[in-house]
Amino acid sequence: MAHFDRNDVSIRMEGKKPLGGRIWIQGSKNAALPVLAACMLIPGTCVLRGCPAITDIECMCSLLKSTGAAVTVVDGDRIEIDTRSVREHRLPEKHVCAMRSSVIMMGAMLGRLGEVCVNYPGGCVIGDRPIDLHLYGLEKLGAQIWTEGNHIRAYADELKGAVIHFPFSSVGATQNVILAAVTARGTTVINNAAKEPEIVELCRFLNLAGADIDYAGTLLKSGRIVIHGVELSRLHGITYNVIADRIVAGTYLFAALAAGGEVALENVPIGQLDSICDTIRGMGAVIDSDGSSLTVNACDRDRIVNLPYIETDVYPDFPTDLQSPLLAAACVARGKLAVRERIFSSRFRIVEELQRMGADIAVEGDTAVVTGGRELEGRTVIARELRGGAALVIAGLCASGITTVADSGYIRRGYQDIVGDFAGLGARISYVD
Ligand code: UD1
Repeated sequence: MAHFDRNDVSIRMEGKKPLGGRIWIQGSKNAALPVLAACMLIPGTCVLRGCPAITDIECMCSLLKSTGAAVTVVDGDRIEIDTRSVREHRLPEKHVCAMRSSVIMMGAMLGRLGEVCVNYPGGCVIGDRPIDLHLYGLEKLGAQIWTEGNHIRAYADELKGAVIHFPFSSVGATQNVILAAVTARGTTVINNAAKEPEIVELCRFLNLAGADIDYAGTLLKSGRIVIHGVELSRLHGITYNVIADRIVAGTYLFAALAAGGEVALENVPIGQLDSICDTIRGMGAVIDSDGSSLTVNACDRDRIVNLPYIETDVYPDFPTDLQSPLLAAACVARGKLAVRERIFSSRFRIVEELQRMGADIAVEGDTAVVTGGRELEGRTVIARELRGGAALVIAGLCASGITTVADSGYIRRGYQDIVGDFAGLGARISYVD
């Protein structure tokens, strides 16, 4: 089996070489996963183009297959999903527990089959990840939900539109309610819906497939989505292009900032990267855009400094998913940075590994303070979750000597080929057993 296909391989790199060249940004994981779940609702064939070849997508495809759907991958990045023979409402533990996003299958399956049985979902270990808001939203739509052993079961003779007010915005809970409400009787209003671009993409996909969702004028302004329920038979298969991954783009921008050099990113969702580009510019790199690509130049190392304070927050503010790549870059920038993590409680698991590489980071509660400008030293470190794993690769690209990132399977949950991408930019990096 190729290294690329294995989870237990390590990534080995020899750092301190500036990056240079062009890189194509893969399709968005967080946009593609809910769209794949949405295919469950559509009694026909959908074709998704530009799906990233990552393990979380493989896992979602396995979940779809387990329900009876026919899922075919064509030419690597095109996935055809035919759900006409879907009838199984129990999802297999192996895949549900492997990925947090499996929980959004609940809304889709209630809409399609009127029942679902799942284990508590898994995913990256980045703090408490309850699903109370998901269940609250589905119950408001009329689902009966109960637990049986390790399983959550939900059943609805008929889902009915409702007004749902989320006490705080949750990407997954918003997606789950949208999916359940598309074919519910009557109108559903979601207040304080998540505003992430992946929510917009899900609504856009569903509307193209025959749903009736108002979001364009209201979501970004007031956090409101209105879903007018339609008959299941009105939904039809479509061909859909997955948008580019803003988090992968941001990861590579931080890599260039940290390692130095000049990198052009192609296929970038430029409009979704404002807070990230502001941060990168604030840290001294130059970013140019020609409308379809972004170029980051961090050749002048004397200009690379830390901003005093950054906090993660919901879109359009600085994304929690880029907090670890930011921490890695902050280790090499001069000066002090305080990062406050406002979304997930345990998202500082990477700190211990960075400290082993010589980083000066102190964590107190939800804030990490990095004193940058230190030389990182190559070590063997362990990827414990997706974004933290990618951030350790960034640290390795900056460190002296050899860095080995073990358990790279976590990284492959979200990055198609991080090794190939950085090797294409001139990094001395490879997979090793
Ligand atoms: C999604 C993204 C993930 C990103 C996160 C925040 C996908 C597949 N994943 O995750 O990459 O880091 O948004 O932008 O798109 N919460 C509750 N109860 C709930 C649901 C959430 O308390 O029922 C809390 C969470 O613990 C967290 C916050 O709400 O503190 C935000 O979580 P949420 O937006 O739901 O994240 P995910 O959808 O899991």
